[in-house]
Amino acid sequence: MRRGELLRALRAAGPAGVSGEVLAAEFGVSRAAVAKHVRALREMGYGIDAVAGTGYRLDRAPDLPLPEEVAHLVRNPFWVRYEGGLETASTNDDAKLLARAGAPEGTVVLAARQTAGRGRLGRVWDSPSGGAYLSAVFRPNLSPADLAPLPLVVALGVARGLERVLARAAHPGPSQEPAAAAPDATVAVKWPNDVWFADRDGAPVGKVAGVLLEMQAESDMTEWVVAGVGVNVRAGSRGFAGAAYVTDHVPNAHAAGVAAAVLDGIAATYAAWTIAGFDGLVDEYDRIALLRDRWVNVRDADGALRVSGVASGIDGDGRLLVDSGGRTVVVSAGDVTLREDV
Ligand code: BTN
Repeated sequence: MRRGELLRALRAAGPAGVSGEVLAAEFGVSRAAVAKHVRALREMGYGIDAVAGTGYRLDRAPDLPLPEEVAHLVRNPFWVRYEGGLETASTNDDAKLLARAGAPEGTVVLAARQTAGRGRLGRVWDSPSGGAYLSAVFRPNLSPADLAPLPLVVALGVARGLERVLARAAHPGPSQEPAAAAPDATVAVKWPNDVWFADRDGAPVGKVAGVLLEMQAESDMTEWVVAGVGVNVRAGSRGFAGAAYVTDHVPNAHAAGVAAAVLDGIAATYAAWTIAGFDGLVDEYDRIALLRDRWVNVRDADGALRVSGVASGIDGDGRLLVDSGGRTVVVSAGDVTLREDV
Protein backbone atom coordinates (compact mmCIF):
# COMPACT_ATOMS: atom_id res chain seq x y z
CA MET A 1 0.00 0.00 0.00
CA ARG A 2 1.22 3.47 -0.85
CA ARG A 3 0.29 6.62 1.06
CA GLY A 4 -1.46 7.98 -2.05
CA GLU A 5 -3.73 4.92 -2.24
CA LEU A 6 -4.70 5.26 1.41
CA LEU A 7 -5.52 8.94 0.87
CA ARG A 8 -7.63 8.12 -2.18
CA ALA A 9 -9.58 5.59 -0.12
CA LEU A 10 -10.07 8.09 2.73
CA ARG A 11 -11.24 10.75 0.27
CA ALA A 12 -13.63 8.30 -1.37
CA ALA A 13 -15.11 7.37 2.03
CA GLY A 14 -15.91 11.05 2.74
CA PRO A 15 -17.42 12.11 6.08
CA ALA A 16 -18.69 8.58 6.74
CA GLY A 17 -15.12 7.38 7.20
CA VAL A 18 -13.78 3.87 6.67
CA SER A 19 -12.58 1.28 9.16
CA GLY A 20 -8.99 0.09 9.50
CA GLU A 21 -10.28 -3.42 8.90
CA VAL A 22 -11.85 -2.53 5.54
CA LEU A 23 -8.73 -0.63 4.48
CA ALA A 24 -6.48 -3.53 5.51
CA ALA A 25 -8.60 -5.98 3.50
CA GLU A 26 -8.74 -3.64 0.47
CA PHE A 27 -4.97 -3.27 0.31
CA GLY A 28 -4.06 -6.74 1.55
CA VAL A 29 -2.04 -5.45 4.53
CA SER A 30 -2.38 -5.70 8.32
CA ARG A 31 -4.37 -3.19 10.38
CA ALA A 32 -1.07 -2.23 12.03
CA ALA A 33 0.31 -1.29 8.60
CA VAL A 34 -2.75 0.91 7.97
CA ALA A 35 -2.25 2.57 11.37
CA LYS A 36 1.42 3.19 10.55
CA HIS A 37 0.51 4.94 7.29
CA VAL A 38 -2.14 7.01 9.07
CA ARG A 39 0.52 8.14 11.57
CA ALA A 40 2.87 9.10 8.75
CA LEU A 41 0.13 11.12 7.06
CA ARG A 42 -0.68 12.91 10.31
CA GLU A 43 2.99 13.83 10.66
CA MET A 44 2.78 15.40 7.19
CA GLY A 45 -0.10 17.61 8.35
CA TYR A 46 -3.16 15.57 7.40
CA GLY A 47 -6.00 15.72 9.91
CA ILE A 48 -7.27 12.15 10.18
CA ASP A 49 -9.85 11.46 12.89
CA ALA A 50 -10.14 8.00 14.40
CA VAL A 51 -13.83 7.70 15.21
CA ALA A 52 -14.97 4.85 17.46
CA GLY A 53 -17.20 2.45 15.55
CA THR A 54 -16.55 4.19 12.20
CA GLY A 55 -12.82 4.16 11.63
CA TYR A 56 -10.69 6.77 9.94
CA ARG A 57 -12.03 10.00 8.49
CA LEU A 58 -10.03 12.56 6.52
CA ASP A 59 -10.75 15.89 8.08
CA ARG A 60 -8.16 18.22 6.64
CA ALA A 61 -5.38 18.10 4.05
CA PRO A 62 -2.29 20.32 4.42
CA ASP A 63 -1.70 23.19 2.00
CA LEU A 64 1.46 21.61 0.66
CA PRO A 65 2.60 20.60 -2.83
CA LEU A 66 2.87 16.92 -1.89
CA PRO A 67 2.51 14.26 -4.59
CA GLU A 68 -0.69 13.02 -2.91
CA GLU A 69 -2.23 16.51 -3.07
CA VAL A 70 -1.05 17.49 -6.53
CA ALA A 71 -1.78 14.24 -8.42
CA HIS A 72 -5.54 14.46 -8.01
CA LEU A 73 -5.64 18.10 -9.17
CA VAL A 74 -3.62 17.62 -12.37
CA ARG A 75 -5.74 17.15 -15.48
CA ASN A 76 -3.17 16.38 -18.16
CA PRO A 77 -2.53 12.63 -18.55
CA PHE A 78 1.08 13.34 -19.60
CA TRP A 79 2.05 13.04 -15.92
CA VAL A 80 2.24 9.36 -15.11
CA ARG A 81 4.26 9.06 -11.90
CA TYR A 82 4.38 11.31 -8.82
CA GLU A 83 7.23 11.09 -6.32
CA GLY A 84 8.57 13.22 -3.49
CA GLY A 85 7.38 14.41 -0.10
CA LEU A 86 7.78 17.15 2.46
CA GLU A 87 11.50 17.83 2.14
CA THR A 88 14.44 16.81 0.01
CA ALA A 89 17.86 18.21 -0.86
CA SER A 90 16.95 19.00 -4.49
CA THR A 91 14.07 17.61 -6.54
CA ASN A 92 16.33 17.92 -9.60
CA ASP A 93 18.80 15.50 -8.01
CA ASP A 94 16.00 13.08 -7.14
CA ALA A 95 14.53 13.28 -10.65
CA LYS A 96 17.97 12.71 -12.21
CA LEU A 97 18.40 9.55 -10.13
CA LEU A 98 14.98 8.33 -11.23
CA ALA A 99 15.70 9.19 -14.88
CA ARG A 100 19.01 7.28 -14.75
CA ALA A 101 17.13 4.31 -13.27
CA GLY A 102 14.71 4.34 -16.23
CA ALA A 103 11.75 6.39 -14.92
CA PRO A 104 9.35 7.15 -17.77
CA GLU A 105 8.75 10.53 -19.35
CA GLY A 106 6.06 12.25 -17.32
CA THR A 107 7.60 11.36 -13.96
CA VAL A 108 7.58 14.29 -11.53
CA VAL A 109 9.23 14.78 -8.13
CA LEU A 110 7.60 17.30 -5.78
CA ALA A 111 8.69 18.83 -2.49
CA ALA A 112 7.39 21.43 -0.05
CA ARG A 113 10.93 22.57 0.78
CA GLN A 114 14.51 21.85 -0.31
CA THR A 115 17.70 21.95 1.71
CA ALA A 116 20.07 22.26 -1.28
CA GLY A 117 18.00 23.80 -4.07
CA ARG A 118 20.02 24.80 -7.12
CA GLY A 119 19.42 27.65 -9.55
CA ARG A 120 20.81 28.62 -12.94
CA LEU A 121 24.43 29.68 -13.38
CA GLY A 122 25.53 27.73 -10.30
CA ARG A 123 23.44 29.82 -7.93
CA VAL A 124 21.67 28.62 -4.80
CA TRP A 125 17.86 28.44 -5.01
CA ASP A 126 16.74 29.11 -1.47
CA SER A 127 13.74 26.82 -0.98
CA PRO A 128 11.85 27.43 2.27
CA SER A 129 8.31 26.30 3.09
CA GLY A 130 5.80 28.34 1.17
CA GLY A 131 7.15 27.42 -2.25
CA ALA A 132 6.35 24.66 -4.69
CA TYR A 133 9.40 22.76 -5.91
CA LEU A 134 9.10 20.20 -8.69
CA SER A 135 11.25 18.43 -11.26
CA ALA A 136 9.94 16.68 -14.35
CA VAL A 137 11.50 13.94 -16.47
CA PHE A 138 11.30 14.31 -20.27
CA ARG A 139 12.62 11.95 -22.91
CA PRO A 140 12.37 13.97 -26.13
CA ASN A 141 13.17 12.00 -29.24
CA LEU A 142 15.64 14.67 -30.40
CA SER A 143 19.36 15.32 -30.57
CA PRO A 144 20.82 17.64 -27.89
CA ALA A 145 21.35 20.27 -30.60
CA ASP A 146 17.58 20.44 -31.12
CA LEU A 147 16.81 21.08 -27.46
CA ALA A 148 17.74 24.78 -27.46
CA PRO A 149 14.13 26.05 -27.16
CA LEU A 150 13.16 23.60 -24.39
CA PRO A 151 13.98 25.95 -21.48
CA LEU A 152 11.67 28.54 -23.05
CA VAL A 153 9.00 25.90 -23.70
CA VAL A 154 9.02 24.94 -20.01
CA ALA A 155 8.98 28.58 -18.86
CA LEU A 156 6.01 29.24 -21.15
CA GLY A 157 4.24 26.26 -19.62
CA VAL A 158 4.86 27.62 -16.11
CA ALA A 159 3.54 31.00 -17.28
CA ARG A 160 0.39 29.38 -18.68
CA GLY A 161 -0.16 27.59 -15.38
CA LEU A 162 0.21 30.82 -13.39
CA GLU A 163 -2.10 32.62 -15.84
CA ARG A 164 -4.70 29.97 -15.05
CA VAL A 165 -4.24 30.55 -11.32
CA LEU A 166 -4.79 34.30 -11.83
CA ALA A 167 -7.74 33.71 -14.16
CA ARG A 168 -9.44 31.34 -11.71
CA ALA A 169 -9.13 34.01 -9.02
CA ALA A 170 -10.75 36.54 -11.35
CA HIS A 171 -13.56 34.21 -12.49
CA PRO A 172 -14.18 31.63 -9.78
CA GLY A 173 -16.64 28.85 -10.58
CA PRO A 174 -20.25 29.05 -9.34
CA SER A 175 -19.51 26.94 -6.28
CA GLN A 176 -16.62 29.09 -5.12
CA GLU A 177 -16.44 32.33 -3.21
CA PRO A 178 -16.74 35.39 -5.45
CA ALA A 179 -13.43 37.05 -6.31
CA ALA A 180 -12.57 40.00 -4.10
CA ALA A 181 -11.16 41.84 -7.12
CA ALA A 182 -9.59 40.91 -10.41
CA PRO A 183 -5.87 40.16 -9.83
CA ASP A 184 -3.72 43.20 -10.41
CA ALA A 185 -0.93 41.17 -12.06
CA THR A 186 -0.14 39.61 -15.40
CA VAL A 187 2.38 36.85 -16.10
CA ALA A 188 5.53 37.51 -18.13
CA VAL A 189 8.53 35.44 -19.22
CA LYS A 190 12.01 36.88 -18.81
CA TRP A 191 14.40 35.33 -21.28
CA PRO A 192 15.37 32.62 -21.21
CA ASN A 193 13.29 30.88 -18.57
CA ASP A 194 12.35 33.06 -15.61
CA VAL A 195 8.69 33.74 -14.94
CA TRP A 196 7.72 37.12 -13.53
CA PHE A 197 4.65 38.98 -12.48
CA ALA A 198 4.14 42.31 -14.20
CA ASP A 199 1.56 44.99 -13.51
CA ARG A 200 -1.35 45.60 -15.87
CA ASP A 201 0.83 47.93 -17.96
CA GLY A 202 3.52 45.26 -18.33
CA ALA A 203 5.97 46.87 -15.89
CA PRO A 204 8.02 44.22 -14.01
CA VAL A 205 6.90 43.44 -10.45
CA GLY A 206 9.17 40.52 -9.47
CA LYS A 207 10.31 37.01 -10.29
CA VAL A 208 7.76 34.39 -9.25
CA ALA A 209 9.34 31.22 -10.69
CA GLY A 210 12.62 29.90 -12.06
CA VAL A 211 13.48 26.93 -14.26
CA LEU A 212 16.65 24.80 -14.26
CA LEU A 213 17.21 22.22 -17.00
CA GLU A 214 19.72 19.38 -16.76
CA MET A 215 20.19 16.62 -19.30
CA GLN A 216 22.04 13.52 -20.35
CA ALA A 217 22.79 12.61 -23.94
CA GLU A 218 24.53 9.67 -25.60
CA SER A 219 26.31 10.82 -28.78
CA ASP A 220 23.46 12.30 -30.83
CA MET A 221 20.47 11.14 -28.82
CA THR A 222 19.00 12.72 -25.72
CA GLU A 223 18.51 10.16 -22.96
CA TRP A 224 16.62 12.39 -20.58
CA VAL A 225 16.05 15.98 -19.59
CA VAL A 226 15.10 17.02 -16.06
CA ALA A 227 13.31 20.36 -15.80
CA GLY A 228 13.20 21.77 -12.28
CA VAL A 229 10.75 24.52 -11.39
CA GLY A 230 10.64 26.56 -8.20
CA VAL A 231 7.55 28.72 -7.64
CA ASN A 232 7.26 31.36 -4.91
CA VAL A 233 3.75 30.67 -3.66
CA ARG A 234 3.69 32.50 -0.30
CA ALA A 235 6.41 34.51 1.41
CA GLY A 236 6.26 32.76 4.81
CA SER A 237 8.58 34.06 7.48
CA ARG A 238 11.19 35.38 5.07
CA GLY A 239 10.51 36.82 1.67
CA PHE A 240 13.29 37.53 -0.78
CA ALA A 241 14.04 41.02 -2.07
CA GLY A 242 12.89 41.33 -5.66
CA ALA A 243 10.76 38.19 -5.50
CA ALA A 244 7.05 38.07 -6.25
CA TYR A 245 4.64 35.62 -4.64
CA VAL A 246 1.47 34.08 -6.03
CA THR A 247 -0.44 34.99 -2.85
CA ASP A 248 0.47 38.68 -3.34
CA HIS A 249 -2.13 38.59 -6.11
CA VAL A 250 -4.26 35.52 -5.31
CA PRO A 251 -4.39 35.53 -1.50
CA ASN A 252 -6.15 32.15 -1.20
CA ALA A 253 -3.91 30.30 -3.69
CA HIS A 254 -2.91 26.81 -2.55
CA ALA A 255 0.56 25.45 -3.23
CA ALA A 256 -0.82 22.14 -4.50
CA GLY A 257 -3.23 23.89 -6.87
CA VAL A 258 -0.42 26.12 -8.14
CA ALA A 259 1.85 23.10 -8.72
CA ALA A 260 -0.95 21.25 -10.55
CA ALA A 261 -1.70 24.26 -12.78
CA VAL A 262 2.01 24.60 -13.57
CA LEU A 263 2.28 20.89 -14.45
CA ASP A 264 -0.76 21.14 -16.74
CA GLY A 265 0.80 24.20 -18.40
CA ILE A 266 4.15 22.48 -18.95
CA ALA A 267 2.53 19.33 -20.36
CA ALA A 268 0.59 21.46 -22.86
CA THR A 269 3.55 23.52 -24.12
CA TYR A 270 5.81 20.44 -24.21
CA ALA A 271 3.22 18.58 -26.35
CA ALA A 272 2.88 21.60 -28.67
CA TRP A 273 6.66 21.77 -29.06
CA THR A 274 7.17 18.05 -29.73
CA ILE A 275 4.36 18.04 -32.32
CA ALA A 276 4.88 21.34 -34.14
CA GLY A 277 8.24 22.70 -32.98
CA PHE A 278 8.99 26.02 -31.31
CA ASP A 279 7.61 28.04 -34.26
CA GLY A 280 4.10 27.45 -32.94
CA LEU A 281 5.00 28.96 -29.54
CA VAL A 282 7.20 31.91 -30.53
CA ASP A 283 4.31 34.38 -30.84
CA GLU A 284 2.90 33.47 -27.45
CA TYR A 285 6.35 33.75 -25.83
CA ASP A 286 6.91 37.09 -27.54
CA ARG A 287 3.49 38.40 -26.49
CA ILE A 288 4.33 37.97 -22.78
CA ALA A 289 8.09 38.65 -23.05
CA LEU A 290 9.13 40.96 -20.22
CA LEU A 291 12.24 42.23 -21.98
CA ARG A 292 10.75 43.10 -25.34
CA ASP A 293 11.64 46.65 -26.41
CA ARG A 294 13.47 47.29 -23.14
CA TRP A 295 17.10 48.17 -22.57
CA VAL A 296 18.99 45.15 -21.30
CA ASN A 297 22.49 44.18 -20.23
CA VAL A 298 23.58 40.64 -21.09
CA ARG A 299 26.40 39.16 -19.02
CA ASP A 300 28.38 35.95 -19.34
CA ALA A 301 28.35 33.45 -16.47
CA ASP A 302 31.51 35.13 -15.07
CA GLY A 303 29.76 38.51 -14.94
CA ALA A 304 31.50 40.11 -17.94
CA LEU A 305 29.23 42.44 -19.92
CA ARG A 306 28.62 40.86 -23.31
CA VAL A 307 26.15 43.28 -24.91
CA SER A 308 23.99 46.21 -23.94
CA GLY A 309 21.03 47.22 -26.10
CA VAL A 310 17.32 46.87 -26.77
CA ALA A 311 15.81 43.37 -26.68
CA SER A 312 13.88 43.14 -29.94
CA GLY A 313 12.55 39.58 -29.75
CA ILE A 314 13.60 35.93 -30.06
CA ASP A 315 14.40 33.81 -33.08
CA GLY A 316 12.97 30.40 -34.02
CA ASP A 317 15.56 28.64 -31.86
CA GLY A 318 14.63 30.70 -28.81
CA ARG A 319 17.73 32.90 -28.92
CA LEU A 320 17.45 36.50 -27.70
CA LEU A 321 17.92 39.26 -30.27
CA VAL A 322 19.49 42.46 -28.93
CA ASP A 323 19.76 45.59 -31.08
CA SER A 324 22.98 47.30 -30.17
CA GLY A 325 24.85 50.04 -32.01
CA GLY A 326 22.99 49.48 -35.29
CA ARG A 327 23.41 45.68 -35.41
CA THR A 328 21.49 42.74 -34.04
CA VAL A 329 23.39 40.52 -31.60
CA VAL A 330 22.06 36.96 -31.25
CA VAL A 331 22.39 35.71 -27.66
CA SER A 332 22.07 31.99 -26.94
CA ALA A 333 23.06 32.02 -23.25
CA GLY A 334 23.67 34.54 -20.53
CA ASP A 335 22.31 36.48 -17.60
CA VAL A 336 20.05 39.33 -18.61
CA THR A 337 19.17 42.31 -16.45
CA LEU A 338 16.99 45.26 -17.29
CA ARG A 339 19.28 48.24 -17.64
CA GLU A 340 17.38 50.24 -15.04
CA ASP A 341 18.04 47.42 -12.49
CA VAL A 342 21.80 47.82 -12.67
C1 BTN B 1 16.72 29.82 -11.46
O1 BTN B 1 15.91 30.72 -11.66
O2 BTN B 1 17.91 30.06 -11.20
C2 BTN B 1 16.25 28.39 -11.56
C3 BTN B 1 15.70 27.91 -10.26
C4 BTN B 1 15.23 26.48 -10.31
C5 BTN B 1 14.84 25.96 -8.95
C6 BTN B 1 14.17 24.63 -9.02
S1 BTN B 1 13.33 24.25 -7.51
C7 BTN B 1 13.06 22.63 -8.07
C8 BTN B 1 14.34 22.18 -8.75
N1 BTN B 1 15.29 21.68 -7.79
C9 BTN B 1 16.39 22.42 -7.73
O3 BTN B 1 17.37 22.18 -6.99
N2 BTN B 1 16.30 23.44 -8.57
C10 BTN B 1 15.06 23.42 -9.30
